[in-house]
Amino acid sequence: MSTTMPGQPLNPAVIAARHNEDILVGNELVRHNRVSRVIHWGVAISFFVGLFTGMPIWTPLFGWMAYLFGGLEVCRWLHPWAGVLFAVLSIVMFFYWLTDMRMLPGETREWFGPKAFTYMKYEDEPDAGKYNGGQKLFFYAVSLGMLGLLLTGIVMWFPLSFPRWVRALSIVLHDITFICFMVAVVLHIYLGTTAEPGTFRSMTRGTVTKPWARLHHPGWLRDVAGRRE
Ligand code: HEM
Repeated sequence: MSTTMPGQPLNPAVIAARHNEDILVGNELVRHNRVSRVIHWGVAISFFVGLFTGMPIWTPLFGWMAYLFGGLEVCRWLHPWAGVLFAVLSIVMFFYWLTDMRMLPGETREWFGPKAFTYMKYEDEPDAGKYNGGQKLFFYAVSLGMLGLLLTGIVMWFPLSFPRWVRALSIVLHDITFICFMVAVVLHIYLGTTAEPGTFRSMTRGTVTKPWARLHHPGWLRDVAGRRE
């Protein structure tokens, strides 16, 4: 997961990012260790396999997506298993990241208000720690969404085990949840790549630069590098 060219010695920060987190190495801060990154990419890949196998089942409008996996029949059996994998990995990610995602006093009230819409304005967060309130909200929202998709998905997987009204409700809830999820994930990818340059590398090499941390997460920079930062 390093961006170093073959033959070049590995950057010490990238080596440290294999096992450590929240440390300063040279001019880089280690943000996500290797386990954290592997879990995140597992969640992302299983999410997209679930999405692209589910959409052709949902409507023929997206029937062409089935060809990516060898046809609709493959999608029908692959989709629930991709969903189970996504749920299992999301649960692992939930407990792995939970400590860093605790809402600070006042944060919950603040981020459930109009501020939630200023998610992109990281600059407004002079004390943002490792994650700001918007990121924490996203974390809890996707965890809850995953639970909704899992439960309603199980009902549709074993339809004969549930009453008719539960099946009907599950179909509607599964569809609404996946549409919200898709919108949230598109926004999340935008924020993690184009909107916030320097963020994506935290999920590839595991590190970020000091100026990035000073701009987006100054409280975290102070915790990691000391008061002088
Ligand atoms: C190609 C797809 C994706 C990309 C490029 C991406 C990128 C990123 C990046 C760069 C971060 C680190 C942000 C930071 O350190 O401040 C991150 C964090 C995170 N990712 Fe993703 N991600 C993707 C897919 C997903 C999916 C599908 C989910 C969940 C269903 C997810 C859930 C999270 C969560 C909960 C965080 C921590 C909170 C946050 O930073 O918003 N990601 N992602």
